[in-house]
Amino acid sequence: MQGEDDIKFMRRCLDLALSAEGLTYPNPMVGSVIVYNGLIIGEGYHLKAGALHAEENAILSVKDKDLLRNSVLYVNLEPCSHFGRRPPCTDLIISNGIRKVVIGTKDTSEKVSGKGKEKLKSAGCEVITGILEKECRYLNRRFFTFHEKKRPYVILKWAQSSDGFIDIERDKKSERKPTWIIGKAERVLVHKWRASEQSILAGAGTIRSDNPDLTVRDWTGENPLRLVLSGSGDMGVDQPLFRTIGTNIVFTHNTSARIPDSEIVKLDKGRDSIEQVAEYLYNKNIQSVIVEGGAQVLNNFISTGLWDEARIFYGNKNFMQGIKAPVIKGKVYSATKFSSSTLKVILNE
Ligand SMILES: NC(=O)c1ccc[n+]([C@@H]2O[C@H](COP(=O)([O-])OP(=O)(O)OC[C@H]3O[C@@H](n4cnc5c(N)ncnc54)[C@H](OP(=O)(O)O)[C@@H]3O)[C@@H](O)[C@H]2O)c1
Repeated sequence: MQGEDDIKFMRRCLDLALSAEGLTYPNPMVGSVIVYNGLIIGEGYHLKAGALHAEENAILSVKDKDLLRNSVLYVNLEPCSHFGRRPPCTDLIISNGIRKVVIGTKDTSEKVSGKGKEKLKSAGCEVITGILEKECRYLNRRFFTFHEKKRPYVILKWAQSSDGFIDIERDKKSERKPTWIIGKAERVLVHKWRASEQSILAGAGTIRSDNPDLTVRDWTGENPLRLVLSGSGDMGVDQPLFRTIGTNIVFTHNTSARIPDSEIVKLDKGRDSIEQVAEYLYNKNIQSVIVEGGAQVLNNFISTGLWDEARIFYGNKNFMQGIKAPVIKGKVYSATKFSSSTLKVILNE
C-alpha cells in the first residue's frame, strides 16, 4: 500500500533528482528526503559522478543529527552497498541510526541489484519498496535500459509538416540549411533535450543537405557526442564536418574514408548498421542517443525496433510534396501544443 505521505515525499525525491538531468552520467539521477514527524528535515540529490550521493547530501543537510534515529529516509533508487567512487550509502544510513527507508525502485545494475535493500534489512532497518515505481523507473529510463538491455536508450526526434513531410523537394543547388517546421520555443526545447543526452546521431543525407551543428546553443549544458551514419563515408563537402569543434564519430562501410575532425568507425556490411552503432555506444558506456534524422536513418531505427521514445513535432504548414516522414506506432505518452506545432511523445511499448 502506498500512503499519501509516501507518495508526496517520493515525488519530492523525483523533483530533486531531476535537478541534475543530463549531468550524472554514467550514474542515475537520485534524490532523497529525510522526514521526521511528517516534516522534511533534510534533502539532497546527486549532482554528478564522483560527487556526494543523494543520501549523503540529505543526511548532511540535517541540522540536528539526533533526530535521524526517529526519521524516515526516502530515496527514488535503491541505495548502493558497494565501494565505488563513494563509500556505500547503506553503511551511512545504518551508522546514522536511520531505522526506516522507503525506496522508489530497485537498482537493477549488477553492482547493486537488491544487495542494498538486503544490507539495510539485515542491519534491522524496515525497508519499503515500490513507491511511485513506474515514475521512478521512467526518470532513470536511460540508466535502466543501458544496464538491463545492454544498449543505449534511443530517442527518435523529427518535425513533419501537417501533410506528413520532413522536408520540401530541393534541388542540388539549394542552400545547405534545414527547412524549418517548428518555432523558436520548440528549438529551445530541442537544445535542452540535446543537453540531456550523451550522444546525437544524424544521417549523411542530413549532413549533406542541412549542414547541422548538432550542438547545444539555445540552452546551457555540454554538447553530446556527435555521430554520423554514412555508408559511403562521403559527406559531399570538402570542409570540416561540423562548424563547431567537438568529438565526431562517423560510422561507415568505406574502409578508406578520411573525414576531417572525425573518428572513423568501420561498419561490417554483413550486419545491421543500427545494431552495430548500438553495440559500439554500449561498449563506450554511452547510455543515450537522440537521433535527429533524416528519414532513411529514422526508418532504419524504426524497422530494427531499436528505439524507446519518439518525439515528433507536427507543424501547421502543408508542403504538398517532399521527403516523407517516417511512420511509427507506439503508445502516446504526451501531447503538447506550441504556437507552430504540436509535440507528441510516443513510447515503444
Ligand atoms: N524535419 C526534420 O525533423 C528533419 C530532420 C533531419 C533531416 N531532415 C531532412 O531529411 C533529409 C535527409 O534525409 P534522408 O533520408 O535523405 O537522409 P538521412 O537519413 O539523413 O541519411 C541517409 C544516409 O545515411 C546513411 N545511412 C542510412 N542508413 C544507413 C545504414 N543502415 N548503414 C549505413 N549508412 C546508412 C547513408 O549515407 P551514405 O549516402 O553516405 O552512404 C544514407 O544515404 C533532408 O532533406 C533533411 O532536411 C528533416
